[in-house]
Amino acid sequence: MNIKVCRNYDEMSEKAARMICAVMTLKPDCTLGLATGSTPVGMYKRLIAMYESGELDFSRVRSYNLDEYYPIKPTDPQSYRYFMNVNLFDHVNIDRANTHVPNGEAADPDAECRAYDEEVSRAGIDIQVLGIGRNGHIGFNEPSDRLTAATHLTALSESTIEANSRFFASPEEVPHHALTMGLAPIMKSKRIIILVSGKDKHDALSALLSGVIDTSVPATVLNMHPDVTVICDEAAYNG
Ligand code: PGA
Repeated sequence: MNIKVCRNYDEMSEKAARMICAVMTLKPDCTLGLATGSTPVGMYKRLIAMYESGELDFSRVRSYNLDEYYPIKPTDPQSYRYFMNVNLFDHVNIDRANTHVPNGEAADPDAECRAYDEEVSRAGIDIQVLGIGRNGHIGFNEPSDRLTAATHLTALSESTIEANSRFFASPEEVPHHALTMGLAPIMKSKRIIILVSGKDKHDALSALLSGVIDTSVPATVLNMHPDVTVICDEAAYNG
C-alpha cells in the first residue's frame, strides 16, 4: 500500500485529482469508480477545473458509483445520483448515459445488484475512488462478523446513520438501507485510491495501515489489493 500524507484537505484533493487525470490522459475511454460523501468534493472541484481549462476530456469516460440509499428517488436531493450530478456530472462533458449509480428505486433490489455487478465486471474499473467511514466502512460495506463479496442491499449501521445525519434535517430522515458495491467488485478495480481527511478518521486509518485484516474495519481488506494508494491529510494521519 502506498501512503501519501498531505498537509491538508486541499493538497489531498489536488493529489487525488492528479491521479485521476493521469489515468484519463493515458486512457481517454477509461472507467472510473466514484464515491460520494464530503471527502471527494474537493477532488471533484479540481477535476471540473481541469476540464474547464481543457486539460481533461470526459467524453469517452464511463463511471460507476459505489452506492445509493434505498429506497430513494434519483431526483431526491439526498440521493447519491443527485450528489454526483451536482458535484461533477453537470459540470463536465461526460455522457450521462455512461454514468451509473445503483438504482435506489429498483423494484427488485437483488436483481439490480446482480445486474450492477455484471456491468461493473464487464466494464472493468481502471481507478476506484474510495472514502472511509469513521467506522472503517468502504462504500456501505459496514463492520460485521461477515463481509459480503457481491453488490447487495444492506442495513446501515447506527454509526453511519448518525454520521450521515449531518446532511439531513434530522437523523430520523436518514434512510436505513442502501445498495452497495460489494468488496469483490471494489477489489477487482485495477487501481484504488482511498481519501482520508480529518482527525475523526484517525482510528479507521490507523487500523487500515496496521496491515491486520479485520472484518470490523472493512477497509482493511484493501491490504490484499496490489495497487492501493492512501491519500490522507496530516490530521487523519496524526490524529
Ligand atoms: P465522508 O464519508 O467523506 O462524508 O466522511 C466517507 C464514507 O462514509 O465513506
